[in-house]
Amino acid sequence: MGQYLELEARIRNIIENIKALEHEIDCAVACVSGGVDSTLSAVLAKKALGDKVYPVFIDTGFMRLNEGIKIQEALRELLDIDLYDFSEQFISRIEGISDAEEKRIAFRDMFYTSVKMVAEEKRCSWVVQGTIKADVVETVGGIKTQHNVLNEKLLERYGLRVIEPLIDLYKHEVRALARYIGLPASITERQPFPGPGLLVRAVGKLTREKLNLVKVVTDIVEDSLKDMGFSQYFPAAWEYDVIERSSIDGMTYEVYSVKVTGVVEGKRRYGNPVVVNSIPADTDSVYELYRLFDTQKHPHILVKLAEKSSGDYVIAIRAVKTDNFIVAEVPRIDLGVLEALSRKILAEPKVRLVAFDVTPKPPATIEYE
Ligand code: XMP
Repeated sequence: MGQYLELEARIRNIIENIKALEHEIDCAVACVSGGVDSTLSAVLAKKALGDKVYPVFIDTGFMRLNEGIKIQEALRELLDIDLYDFSEQFISRIEGISDAEEKRIAFRDMFYTSVKMVAEEKRCSWVVQGTIKADVVETVGGIKTQHNVLNEKLLERYGLRVIEPLIDLYKHEVRALARYIGLPASITERQPFPGPGLLVRAVGKLTREKLNLVKVVTDIVEDSLKDMGFSQYFPAAWEYDVIERSSIDGMTYEVYSVKVTGVVEGKRRYGNPVVVNSIPADTDSVYELYRLFDTQKHPHILVKLAEKSSGDYVIAIRAVKTDNFIVAEVPRIDLGVLEALSRKILAEPKVRLVAFDVTPKPPATIEYE
């Protein structure tokens, strides 16, 4: 009972805080991606400001297949979401960029340029966004540039004023509030999806081919691994470009040219991923494999699931369990499930090799960049 009163009080407090600004707010565009943070923010802003809030979905080109329409449909009862398609502008701006931070910064610039255009069309000077505490902590801490964390100077450049109803909350608190006010479970329990979306899962240089492949494979992986209780599960793709072949403890492995991220003393570091060619018979040693390598040089260690002689890309399958996303473990997945999944993925003509990531965070990150 006490817990409900507390949730009720928090919600009231957030709504009152937004209402306190009402006299300054002409109107506000609420950016909804379908994740729990942005959806709850839009719903709370709507409760506070009513018709002054315009919920919009910005298609960046890095969302999953048909995501805008699915979200619009799923939230129809709660929010009347307008879809804006900026995908071509985003992709052509970022195409060819390889560096992970540069990709994120270009994404952020495109994002706010697009939001600004939508706000101008609606004649609003305000934007509602679902920034939460972890986004700020990671950006300020230099871990990575989250697309939705702007300092005062940047806000001025884009000429926007921001309402961030959830900025003081952590993910589990956001989920609790979202459940309490009755958002559908498909939203409250949704796995987190990075703001820049599939941009950070088309690892390395952004090309349209790699992005399209990640989109298709994301559907396959999400469908196969859903309902297994994982905190996040997704694929990433990079070029099949081997820079070193060697062996360790009787197992051969390959090192790839792409740069991926790990965590060293709380900071992001880059290194090259390794794919071990054989899976040890003893399950426990599969999940200890990363200890054989220098993870400062090789932050992600994967095991090969399937390979063919043609195709240009490696698909990495990642699944993690975590409470706080600061540390994460790799769940024990039935090998039969992974093998069936890898066969489906290998049927994509452009895929050469499918591997499963066995590295916890730290030393790896959850994403690859
Ligand atoms: P890492 O890869 O740092 O991810 O272990 C931790 C959590 O953050 C998510 N993530 C992002 N979220 N913008 C976001 O909004 C980003 O640029 C971004 N990068 C990573 C990641 O999916 C995981 O939940």
